[in-house]
Amino acid sequence: MWRSSDTVAAVDAQALQQEALAAVDAASTSSELDDLRVTYLGRKSDLKLALREVRDRESGMALNAVREAVERAFAARQEELERAELDARLASEPVDVTLPAELLGPVRPRRRGSLHPSTQVRRDVEDIFLGLGYEIVDGREVETTRYNFDALGFPDWHPSRSPRASLYLTGDTVMRTETSPAQIHKMEGARPPIFMVSIGRVYRRDTIDATHFPIFHQFEGLAIDKGITMADLKGTLLYVMRQLYGAEREVRFRTHYFPFTEPSMEPDVSCPICGGAGCATCKHSGWIEMGGSGMVDPYLYEFVGWDPEEYTGFAFGMGIERTAQLRHGIPGIRPFWENDLRFLRQF
Ligand code: DAH
Repeated sequence: MWRSSDTVAAVDAQALQQEALAAVDAASTSSELDDLRVTYLGRKSDLKLALREVRDRESGMALNAVREAVERAFAARQEELERAELDARLASEPVDVTLPAELLGPVRPRRRGSLHPSTQVRRDVEDIFLGLGYEIVDGREVETTRYNFDALGFPDWHPSRSPRASLYLTGDTVMRTETSPAQIHKMEGARPPIFMVSIGRVYRRDTIDATHFPIFHQFEGLAIDKGITMADLKGTLLYVMRQLYGAEREVRFRTHYFPFTEPSMEPDVSCPICGGAGCATCKHSGWIEMGGSGMVDPYLYEFVGWDPEEYTGFAFGMGIERTAQLRHGIPGIRPFWENDLRFLRQF
């Protein structure tokens, strides 16, 4: 091998290149190649030392050409060797991804994930209504004020219209404050009989506390046909509440007001925690408020261009998180949105 103890001026660029290329060619593993790289291109290699000593243009150009040729040879050989080594590994260590893990050795038990409690309730609600012959429809999270308020009969002065209460994107688009606009979209695109449920997120400008969060989920139902009465509403809600909270449940109505139902009722369900005897959850009344409901206001039929004398129907809207809270005895709404696995793993 050519030695750096020889005088620099005596470097024979051609000989050096030949020697390096031959060595690179002969290298049979990438680690061997790494060692050779130090020898031929390292900081103390003859080539680098010679380059540092260069005084004239000619030998500088010659040495740089050698350096380039040697570097190229290294890169090419490295690629070859790496490919060969990979091929050898692939051939000698076959991986059968279909092999059950137990056969390969001791398997650490893997914790199974679970659906978010909101998702579980959502799916239960969907199943219950599908069983009743209802259709599940999507809504829109961004609504126009026309659908979120006007179509539903909200008067101009209604406090929900205020930007202090609702999250506006522009002057007339708002993050929907309830799932009820889905009723209007459905009515515009179909003719009775309509039996639909729409589930999704709603947004309100609420300050976070134990029972309020600016995002939550609702499920919204709408049934319109000829001859539907309040008895149908009550029977439907009784059935649904018993499916959700147990066969013992009872339902009662309190009169209320919503702009898009007439008459309007708030349904209560007998407390699933104490069975109606009275406890902290039901504030010792034996009843839990479940949301809103009522008979579709004739205004809505007129809004979508139907004859209000032809059809009747009912509607209802309830909270998904609230339902999950009652089913599992969860005291507040915040844990539904905090993604704390210690909470989520319990369901
Ligand atoms: N949208 C109402 C709310 O968020 C709940 C509601 C009340 C929905 C009455 C309805 C209904 O469909 O008929 O408070």
